[in-house]
Amino acid sequence: MKNLETTIQENRDFMKCPQMLETMVESDQEKKLPHPPHGKPTTMPLINLHSFAERAHNPIYEDSYSTLLDIRRSVRNFDENVAISQSQLAFLLHSAQAIQEYRGNNEAFTLRPVPSGGARHPFETYVAVKNVEGLQAGFYYYAPTANVGSKNVSLAYLKSPAGYKEQLTKMLVGQKWAAAAQAVIFLSCVPYRSEWRYVEHSHRVMLIDLGHVGQNIMLSAASLGLGSCCMAAYDQALCDQTLGLDGTDEYTVYAVAVGKSK
Ligand SMILES: Cc1cc2nc3c(=O)[nH]c(=O)nc-3n(C[C@H](O)[C@H](O)[C@H](O)COP(=O)(O)O)c2cc1C
Repeated sequence: MKNLETTIQENRDFMKCPQMLETMVESDQEKKLPHPPHGKPTTMPLINLHSFAERAHNPIYEDSYSTLLDIRRSVRNFDENVAISQSQLAFLLHSAQAIQEYRGNNEAFTLRPVPSGGARHPFETYVAVKNVEGLQAGFYYYAPTANVGSKNVSLAYLKSPAGYKEQLTKMLVGQKWAAAAQAVIFLSCVPYRSEWRYVEHSHRVMLIDLGHVGQNIMLSAASLGLGSCCMAAYDQALCDQTLGLDGTDEYTVYAVAVGKSK
């Protein structure tokens, strides 16, 4: 087993920017291999969430951006008895990963509300719905490729296992307060989307990308008067298994609880 000092040194080095152009091996993009899809194929029936585009149906706080920065705070006291609206959930998912447009040769990359190194956007989004108006509790997949360039948000229903809340609590390694949230957004990584271009240097970039997604969700939640909390503590195997991910070509990387605080 490696000693702790070596591990820490390796991890520190991993966080640093290497001489990418000098050291990177030839990428699949340079080999002219086709780019991977920007989302999973959505063969499942889709549920279209209520629109957030019309403010009358979804009063988003008119606060200034600097006020949002002041009110964004990690929330861990969700009120289980209150529901959030579909349009609120739609806005959160849209701000996390919506595809605003395709760009490049053969739609090689996507533009989204978050930045991403090389516009690779190597993430997929799932949501554990607990209390959202008109939606059955359970796990859903957000399908951004179904609504490119629009403000519509569609979900595919995955499942609602027996003992759903206990399962969610276990997925979040016993963080009961998070399993009480109206929804928990799970982000998974599809590493080849970034490796196609950045090969061995992609992993550092993907972790940086991920922080932007988390911050967008949190600030959007604050703009809706909702609370949120990002979580890096989760049960890797259980989350992957529950969300139907193989753990190699796609694996869970982040979770964000969102909802109404007490
Ligand atoms: C990458 C990351 C991972 C985190 N993981 C957890 C977690 O697993 N559980 C938790 O209760 N809070 C978690 N947090 C929330 C932090 O504890 C919180 O952001 C920090 O205490 C600062 O508080 P603030 O968000 O209100 O500014 C995480 C935050 C980040 C950015």
